[in-house]
Amino acid sequence: MALIPEESMNKIAQIFDSLEYGPAPEAPDQAIAWLDSKGRKFGHFIDGKWTKPGKTFAAHNPATNASLAEITDGTAEDVDAAVKAARAAFKSWSALRGYERGKYLYAIARLIQKHARLFAVLETMDNGKPIRESRDADIPLVARHFYHHAGWATHLDTEFPAMAPYGVCGQIIPWNFPLLMLAWKIAPALAAGNTVVLKPAEFTSLTALLFAEICERVGLPKGVVNIVTGEGDTGAAIVNHPDVDKIAFTGSTEVGKIIRAATAGSGKGLSLELGGKSPYIVFEDADLDSAVEGLVEAIWFNQGQVCCAGSRLLVQESIEDRFIAKVKARMAKLRVGDPLDKSVDIGALVAPVQVERIKDLMKRGVAEGAVVYEPDGQIPSEGCFLKPALVTNVSPANTLVSEEIFGPVLVAMSFRTPEEAVALANNTRYGLAATLWSENINLALDIAPKLKAGVVWINGTNQFDAAVGFGGYKESGYGREGGREGMSAYLKPSWEKDLKPAAVAKPVATKPANPLDAGHLDQTAKMYIGGKQARPDSGYNRPVHGPKGELIGEVGEGNRKDIRNAVEAARAALGWANTAAHSRAQVLYFLAENLDYRRDEFAARIKAQTGEDGAAEVAQSVERLFAFAGWADKFDGAVHNPPMRAIAAAMVEPLGVIGIAAPDSKPLLGATTLMAAAIAMGNSVVLVPSERSPLSITDFYQVLETSDMPSGVVNIVTGDSLTLAKTLAEHDGVDGLWFMGSAEGSAMVEKASVGNLKQTWTSRGLDYDLTDPRFSGDYFLSRATQVKNVWIPYGA
Ligand code: NAI
Ligand code: MG
Repeated sequence: MALIPEESMNKIAQIFDSLEYGPAPEAPDQAIAWLDSKGRKFGHFIDGKWTKPGKTFAAHNPATNASLAEITDGTAEDVDAAVKAARAAFKSWSALRGYERGKYLYAIARLIQKHARLFAVLETMDNGKPIRESRDADIPLVARHFYHHAGWATHLDTEFPAMAPYGVCGQIIPWNFPLLMLAWKIAPALAAGNTVVLKPAEFTSLTALLFAEICERVGLPKGVVNIVTGEGDTGAAIVNHPDVDKIAFTGSTEVGKIIRAATAGSGKGLSLELGGKSPYIVFEDADLDSAVEGLVEAIWFNQGQVCCAGSRLLVQESIEDRFIAKVKARMAKLRVGDPLDKSVDIGALVAPVQVERIKDLMKRGVAEGAVVYEPDGQIPSEGCFLKPALVTNVSPANTLVSEEIFGPVLVAMSFRTPEEAVALANNTRYGLAATLWSENINLALDIAPKLKAGVVWINGTNQFDAAVGFGGYKESGYGREGGREGMSAYLKPSWEKDLKPAAVAKPVATKPANPLDAGHLDQTAKMYIGGKQARPDSGYNRPVHGPKGELIGEVGEGNRKDIRNAVEAARAALGWANTAAHSRAQVLYFLAENLDYRRDEFAARIKAQTGEDGAAEVAQSVERLFAFAGWADKFDGAVHNPPMRAIAAAMVEPLGVIGIAAPDSKPLLGATTLMAAAIAMGNSVVLVPSERSPLSITDFYQVLETSDMPSGVVNIVTGDSLTLAKTLAEHDGVDGLWFMGSAEGSAMVEKASVGNLKQTWTSRGLDYDLTDPRFSGDYFLSRATQVKNVWIPYGA
């Protein structure tokens, strides 16, 4: 017998169908009261004081188009005043005990938590994001970030010995998570002892200004945090200010590249957190309903204005139709509207210009053949609203597949096999995040390492925590925010500031060469590419002279083509990264042993080239190889425990192909140190040996050949160091570049690295003395690697 009569049952079903949400608005009163108390007009926060407003622009509520306040457009003079204040504050702030700095961070966290509702409402009014998100995600994560970093400040000396803060950090942030990005920047910077000048994005300055008031209230020493508002020009003034020691930027890849070029040669530290086009992979054995909910979070969280948004759905063909049908059904239930309404899913985009940008991209995609699905239903006619959209029928070349849309637009493609999923997932210039869904642990943990992304979520998405590093691979930038890696981004070795300019070797007078002499030398060394000796493409050789200018040998004159071939060989050898660390160590030990076996011959060669004690340098080189062999299976990751049902495995991965321009001095030790650090971590290398004394490394081929080194892992191109370094810097197949040489050469390399935003390390004309034991450890290992955080469901 039915418990409920049938007609009543029908009625209940009807009610469910017709049930409407009533409005559930969050009260804006507090936020309005705060704005009013400030006269709705703001200057900057510099040296602990509010400046008089200058030329202003309006802060808008994108849901209503109402103007909220007037914000000062910072000038170069404003930036200068802020940098001066930060500089003046640096000495005492960095000298404070970590515990004391930690207490300030803790006080900030407490006060943000106390005023969480005010922050959340103000954020939603200024940015347009649903109150549910600012209340439950943004602001709690902000508080958590300050708490977490209060702890790092306290333990700085023991956890980061011999590290020092940069000094004054310029920080430029975007509008999608205004206060959260501020927290990600300011908390680690302050914990490490830096002072900051931060510029919020022009669309969303208000919570940064409210934060400035929190700094006032907790009695943060003046000048430690300076907030300068303004547009791109203001940001550029920070980037170009000569007294800023480090730039941390989050925003578009386009501006990230401008900043990379602008800081080239300046010696400023740089971390970039840029765009993404992150794959969201659903395998046929996934829990489809969970995967749909995850997808909602991945692409419609914050209207899709998320750098790590899962904007590319890759779904296995066998379940494609079923899954897409579920997605569409779910899309129809998403509520677009007043972001202050607690039951709204999708709020307003940040500004009209972003709405127009998205519409333009959609038009282009449709013209290229894309089909767009949008659910029925109304969206507000006023304000920056867009419906959620699902794009199908696209090829990998479609604009909507390749470009970061930064809006509520999901692009779907299908795949047949896991291999194809990986290929599609990695087929992008970005590498910020990736999500994968499968109930098969073997499949999930097989795919995660293959995804080229800084964050991988398994059976979950958009998980963040202060203890877990966040940041990109490839053109998504470099540096991490959060956790230990994030702290490292605000610290540098304390000895670096004492480096003196490297002595510039005097050119030796060479005797006019008789071309016929060369023919009598049996020392015309070739290149070493893909495990084989190769003639230079140019057909030319260059002479090698001894310390007195006498001709002692010849090497090939490498050119662009030789570098291309070497990079190709190095890429073909990337499987080296998957060789067990133990096996990589064995190869390095073997190199050390074989070099030691031939030490007299190598010592004599060094002496012939440099006139220096070759025996000592060979012994040091053997020791270096031994040291990095020892590191190969020890420089590894960590497991983080975020406050949710997951662990994050911080996996240390190689960059890929590293180009190395070795120093001129210590021709054997310099090159072997850099090479060994890179290959110990699983990179393959293109090595340009000392320009002046390359013969130690061209002799090294035989050592490589007798040490079980897989071909292509080490490739060697001799020639003009600057020319070859430039070619390497411009090559998109090179993922990292280390350059030891002049300040001008370093600037050139950094500028030329912009194309694919490869990570660079340069010696900037300074005397990095590689004989120092400090170079047998993590200094180069950390530069040879990037950390991928893999989130895995775990525990209850
Ligand atoms: P943007 O990169 O121009 O803005 C980010 C920040 O950089 C803002 O504070 C801005 O004032 C500042 N800025 C702009 N030009 C600068 C310069 N030359 N030097 C120093 N600072 C400068 O991003 P925008 O124009 O607001 O958004 C355009 C697109 O960029 C978005 O549609 C999205 O695709 C992407 N974007 C990506 C973000 C991410 O987190 N991945 C964040 C913001 C934008
Ligand atoms: Mg706004």
